[in-house]
Amino acid sequence: MKFIVYNVRDDEIPFIEKWGKYHGIEVKYTTTTLNQETVEEAAGFDGISCLQTIQYSAELFESFKRLGIKYLSLRNVGVDNIDLPAAKANGVKITNVPAYSPESIAEFAVMMSLYLSRKVGYMRQQLDQKHEFHFSPNFMGRLISEQTVGVIGTGRIGQAAIKLFKGLGAKVIAYDKYPLKNTDNSFVYAKSLEQIYQESDIISIHMPATDDNYHQFNHEVFEQMKDTAILINTARGSIVDTDDLIFALQSGEIAGAGIDTIENESADLQDSRSTKKVNDPDVLKMALMPNVLVTPHSAFHTSEAVKNMIDISLGNLETMVNGKTPKDLVD
Ligand code: NAD
Ligand code: COI
Repeated sequence: MKFIVYNVRDDEIPFIEKWGKYHGIEVKYTTTTLNQETVEEAAGFDGISCLQTIQYSAELFESFKRLGIKYLSLRNVGVDNIDLPAAKANGVKITNVPAYSPESIAEFAVMMSLYLSRKVGYMRQQLDQKHEFHFSPNFMGRLISEQTVGVIGTGRIGQAAIKLFKGLGAKVIAYDKYPLKNTDNSFVYAKSLEQIYQESDIISIHMPATDDNYHQFNHEVFEQMKDTAILINTARGSIVDTDDLIFALQSGEIAGAGIDTIENESADLQDSRSTKKVNDPDVLKMALMPNVLVTPHSAFHTSEAVKNMIDISLGNLETMVNGKTPKDLVD
């Protein structure tokens, strides 16, 4: 049995080597992105492990079939970038890692909320750009305990985020297309999305990207939000219309944004050895705004998460190659 792991970062290598040694399985790894050309490297391997936010296309799955590769094991949660019908049509079974560390993403969302609530971007801007190191009225922040946090998506990450926001004393209201039956009274569901938009001081998005939430946060929604509100997106870029967001931030429709996931992420984002300069105009614009914290899809990135992503995804691959049904099969 032998596996190939694509899109590897240096911090994943010790975990991959340890897993291979422990399980007595040959695991080759490469920093290359998985696409129609690079998939040729997988010829002769029993399965592929991959982590990327660019598309897994129908053509890619046709190449899987031609090369006799039947198993793709994702090291991440999201499956929004996969042509699932094409995978099925080409006989490719897919697994993901639904819960490698929901707390890692939840903590990041809270970190962004604190950074923006306490105006750290304004402090950094004054120091970085003007080399001034003194108080300013612009730095006056707000306590999380005095704020209403609207959490959209009450799955694994949303629930972990609720726990943390509640720990800081916030009032939490939530929305989910498929609400939980039992919430342990730790939060209440809002009557509608409009209530979340209108009453929240912080909105934190924790739902998957789907056809029905494409650009859900657009001009119409920003107009409904408080002009003091902060939007946190650690879910997927497509949920927020970036042009409308930038307009909302510049015109004062909302006060701040924490953006870990942005529309049209490129393959470069996953290349940890890259020295390429960022050329996405929206990222460059937001990077200069003191009321924005923009990060390269890094909310997941803790040592705890990385270990679980490797161990669970390679375990899923081994289970599939052994002809058994893995618990994380994506249907
Ligand atoms: P989950 O499946 O446990 O929970 C998602 C919740 O969203 C579910 O309760 C579901 O009912 C709800 N939902 C689905 N569609 C909805 C809609 N249109 N409106 C409202 N609610 C909706 O998933 P999770 O583990 O909590 O992860 C959520 C998302 O976070 C992932 O799909 C992924 O896109 C993103 N994510 C980001 C990072 C990062 O590093 N930034 C890491 C992991 C996951
Ligand atoms: C996910 O797990 O879905 C993420 O967004 C993390 C990323 C490394 C792809």
